[in-house]
Amino acid sequence: MSDSARLWGGRFDAGPAEAFDRLNASLAVDRRLWRHDIQGSRAHARMLASQGIISAEDGAAILGGLDQVAAELESGEFSFAPGDEDIHTAVERRLTEIAGDAGRRLHTARSRNDQVITDTLLYLREKIDDQRVQLGALVGALLDQAERNLDTLIPGYTHLQRAQPVRLAHHLLAYVRMLERDRVRIDAVRRASDQSPLGSGALAGVGFPIDREMTAAELGFTGPSVNSMEAVGGRDQLAAYLHFATQLGVHLSRLGAEFVWWASEEVGFVEVDDAFASGSSMLPQKKNPDAAELARAKAARLAADYAGLVGVMSGLPLAYNKDLQEDKTFLFDAADTVDLLVPAMTGMVATAQFQPEVCRAACEGGFLAAIDLADHLVREGWPFRKAHEAVGALVRACEAAGVGLAEAGPTELEAADLVEITLPSLDAEASVEAKDVVGGTARVRVQSELAAARAQLNEW
Ligand code: ARG
Repeated sequence: MSDSARLWGGRFDAGPAEAFDRLNASLAVDRRLWRHDIQGSRAHARMLASQGIISAEDGAAILGGLDQVAAELESGEFSFAPGDEDIHTAVERRLTEIAGDAGRRLHTARSRNDQVITDTLLYLREKIDDQRVQLGALVGALLDQAERNLDTLIPGYTHLQRAQPVRLAHHLLAYVRMLERDRVRIDAVRRASDQSPLGSGALAGVGFPIDREMTAAELGFTGPSVNSMEAVGGRDQLAAYLHFATQLGVHLSRLGAEFVWWASEEVGFVEVDDAFASGSSMLPQKKNPDAAELARAKAARLAADYAGLVGVMSGLPLAYNKDLQEDKTFLFDAADTVDLLVPAMTGMVATAQFQPEVCRAACEGGFLAAIDLADHLVREGWPFRKAHEAVGALVRACEAAGVGLAEAGPTELEAADLVEITLPSLDAEASVEAKDVVGGTARVRVQSELAAARAQLNEW
């Protein structure tokens, strides 16, 4: 018995096995594309009518029917049928119930292969425009904190060992830089998604005088795609988005990790607001920086989505293959993850209470100024390598005596062969101010970095 409920039933003697049907169906994943599917169908129907490929009456019946389908989907009244294997099938099936033969004409000069990638790109472009705004808000929150903490000094670390004092603003602005590059990446994805695949048909184009410029323009693309096989068989725009999301995830993971550590009792540089922390079901005193921890973990999920799509695409012959149906699971998962992550990070950063005194105290009493002392000796004419060695010996002597570099007394200086030296100011302020180079920690440099980042935010 022919399975005529399906879009492709004509060639088949019998309907699909239930086990295959369950594997093949993508409705659960792609039903969220219904708005884009209807948008694409409206553009296609208008074009078919304007080109005289279908009659004006059929065009009007299709558009009226699509309005009704959209209303039903919007209100939740729409009932999906057992044969609705994907959102395209569901919309066309319901349209045909409403508009009869006119509905059956909608798929003239179109394949689900060009339809699905058109829908997906419409979704992706919308998502990018929205996430770009969300990212701008995160950058804004970082800039506000940087501005508030221009004069907060914290130890900068290498190998998680205290290395040199830096302005907290400078540290936060490092993340602004990373996000700026994420913006460049997301903008490139947007540009790569700027051509309409609609009209590519199954793989070879279509045998009707369609107007691809017209549908492209109506859907907001800059023009039609150039090669029909690439258009229906490629997904590199999605992969580029997933690469962006992965890299963003890595940046936010690192920021999250810093907050987890900064918020620990051992460090105490920041207090995470109650609104972005949670308690323990057992230990009454706990306040855990969960938002930051989840940011730290989500990068793995984004990377897995990226790896998943790249894995599906590798080795796939042109043009459309059902493998491509798997693309949306990865895309949606990543987009949803970014949607969760960025606003939470924005809120966490915006409400975080940095503790300038604790930060400052961590800069004192140790050896953060070791390079400043070595630099001082160099200015006095010492070769750098000799100065490095002498200060190293001084650090060793101070450590043995249980004092910081600034408290080095005659015994320590003597042990390091530095008796004839008058110690310069070794406080953290002097140290950060000495780094008066482009990209350095001197106040004026950080101020201009901040101002430039603010100005750049206007481009977001
Ligand atoms: N659900 C399919 C997908 O997501 C739509 C395209 C189906 N095309 C086909 N020739 N079976 O890719």
